[in-house]
Amino acid sequence: MKPSSAAPRGANPSRQAAASAARERLALNQAGIEAAKADLQAGAVTPHFGPWREEIIALLNDALATEWICVMRYKRHHFTAVGLASPAIASEFLVHANDEAQHADWLARRIVQLGGEPDFNPDTLSQRSHASYNAARELQAMIRANLIAERVAIETYSQMISLIGDKDPTTRRLIEAILEQEQHHAEELADWLAPA
Ligand SMILES: [Fe+2]
Ligand SMILES: [Fe+2]
Repeated sequence: MKPSSAAPRGANPSRQAAASAARERLALNQAGIEAAKADLQAGAVTPHFGPWREEIIALLNDALATEWICVMRYKRHHFTAVGLASPAIASEFLVHANDEAQHADWLARRIVQLGGEPDFNPDTLSQRSHASYNAARELQAMIRANLIAERVAIETYSQMISLIGDKDPTTRRLIEAILEQEQHHAEELADWLAPA
């Protein structure tokens, strides 16, 4: 084996400094732990949420509005598509409506857990929703409108996951679970969409 005159990698001073800095970043914030013992009224919300809590609640409330608009769009399509060519698709619209209602409930529960108030105000629901209501009468137009809404939901939830990151892992995991179902919805709708 060829002998080397270079210093061992671990002896490099800049590497040691970088390693030391990395160790410092893993230290727990004791002040935060002490504060967590004190503010019992805040329930599950501890100091780690810091300035992000209200913005996360706002994101969740817009997602809640979106889910409710999706429930109403799918219900409308379910009941009006019953007599059309594909009863199987009409009944699948109802399955999706129930999934979106479940998502809305998960979001509302998390908003309350974060110390916020879920906004079910019907007067502002469609303005706050990322996706649109749709009253198409033809099956392909319904499928297309629902696929657009699912793609909007997928993009929105993906962006929320990036924004929340490690600021609130519980909310991020909840949104990841919803995102997985929206992707499944979109896949189904895309399969039903006839080629143009
Ligand atoms: Fe949903
Ligand atoms: Fe969906």
